[in-house]
Amino acid sequence: MRRKLIAGNWKMNGSLAANAVLLTGIRSGMGEARCEVAVCVPAPYLAQCRDALAGSPVRWGGQDVSVHESGAYTGEVSASMLLDFGSRYVIVGHSERRSYHREDDDMVAAKALRAVAAGLVPIVCVGETLQEREQGQTESTVTRQLDAVLAALSVEQVTRIVVAYEPVWAIGTGKTATPEMAQEVHGLLRSRLNQKSPAAAEVVPILYGGSMKPDNAAELLAMPDIDGGLIGGAALKALDFLSIIRAC
Ligand code: 13P
Repeated sequence: MRRKLIAGNWKMNGSLAANAVLLTGIRSGMGEARCEVAVCVPAPYLAQCRDALAGSPVRWGGQDVSVHESGAYTGEVSASMLLDFGSRYVIVGHSERRSYHREDDDMVAAKALRAVAAGLVPIVCVGETLQEREQGQTESTVTRQLDAVLAALSVEQVTRIVVAYEPVWAIGTGKTATPEMAQEVHGLLRSRLNQKSPAAAEVVPILYGGSMKPDNAAELLAMPDIDGGLIGGAALKALDFLSIIRAC
């Protein structure tokens, strides 16, 4: 059985005071969640998450990782630093990093490799822009993005990643892919995983991200290849995040 995962991506939001309220709300409202839950937070708040979530089932992690182990890379955060604060997950290749920081497929693959080699679980994001979808390039785009990562990892390492399909046109826009549209891409991603390693296709969760909210989560999560969600805006409100967790 593939595990289910609901992960929050806080992006560049939060403050010590606001996080304290949010983390307490999530922790106390979790109950008996049947899926794994994580929050991916700005690096300065990792220590706060460790202190607030220790002993709870909620995991935490970062939103990016350097391809380098250490050294003169001003502003970057290494895998070992994320681990120092108890991180389990790190997002790599989010479309905001690909577009605002010009991260290409090779760099995303190198980051995924660095994360896995260090013992973190990379949440590898793929997704097409509106223009790519309208030009019929959804399949070629997400395949290219995922294949770059699969090529960089060994068969065994691929079993230790999470994939997230995030259509760029659905992020923060309130437009969600229909469950059928999302399932079509998730099925395709599953078959690429299967080509690399049938074992990975069995165990690697494929999350959907892009305006997932309490009112559309259940129908998306009901699709056979949607194993969870990567949640932006709705992860910043404890009640919304908890309601998506309950839908899982
Ligand atoms: P929204 O849920 O705000 O659309 O963001 C999705 C996302 O980018 C998660 O990584």
